[in-house]
Amino acid sequence: MLQRPQTGIFLTFEGIDGSGKSTQARALAASLQAGGQDVVLTREPGGSTGAEAIRALLVAGDADRWSPETEILLFNAARRDHLEKTVLPALARGAVVICDRFADSTRVYQGAARASLRPLVDQLHDMVIGIEPDLTFLIDMDARAALARGLARQTGEDRFEDMGAGFQETLRTGFLDLARMAPARVQVIDGARDMAAISADVLAATRAFMVARA
Ligand code: ADP
Ligand code: TYD
Repeated sequence: MLQRPQTGIFLTFEGIDGSGKSTQARALAASLQAGGQDVVLTREPGGSTGAEAIRALLVAGDADRWSPETEILLFNAARRDHLEKTVLPALARGAVVICDRFADSTRVYQGAARASLRPLVDQLHDMVIGIEPDLTFLIDMDARAALARGLARQTGEDRFEDMGAGFQETLRTGFLDLARMAPARVQVIDGARDMAAISADVLAATRAFMVARA
């Protein structure tokens, strides 16, 4: 089992594709860095050399490239490497780690979209990960509007976006359900506003958390 250092702060951004997670993660990192914080901005799947190699297997190719079970194993393999190599060392030295997606994405993309697999998702998490963020921002917005934003980027990493708007709507509901079940950790942020308004909310909630923690 991995041990979470007592130091550092672990923040994650979650939400459907195109909701603005990466934009907000970058903005929060820049604000905290401007205030002199040691910040590590990272992402999943990826965030370490090994996990980025696994990412390349996951985000490109046909939607049915992997069986659902294989996909869950790959996400967990990537996450374990990312924690060992990037997240836990950064927390150990007292940094603020900001991660674009984490285990909630597996619970929702692999677990909520196919409810029969949620027990496997939870068991694997308990066995090989066992770490939760201190605070999670769920950037929530309408699935069609988010999809339009995401596809406009044309990154070539659209395996999950290609699954369509109905799938994205299921994912949105799954994320909101998780937020209701973990209200102390997951803060729902209205993502259908201009970037600056969202960033201001995220920064205020982060500062409030830091003050409460100090
Ligand atoms: P995600 O990481 O959730 O997929 P991104 O942060 O990459 O989303 O944003 C997807 C696209 O939408 C990008 O082109 C980004 O510039 C744009 N975008 C992000 N936030 C907003 C916003 N609040 N309003 C309008 N466009 C946005
Ligand atoms: P990401 O690069 O964050 O996509 P986006 O910027 O479009 O939101 O993540 C790549 C894809 O991987 C995304 O469609 C969500 C999916 N994913 C899962 O299915 N399970 C997971 O555990 C994670 C971390 C991501």
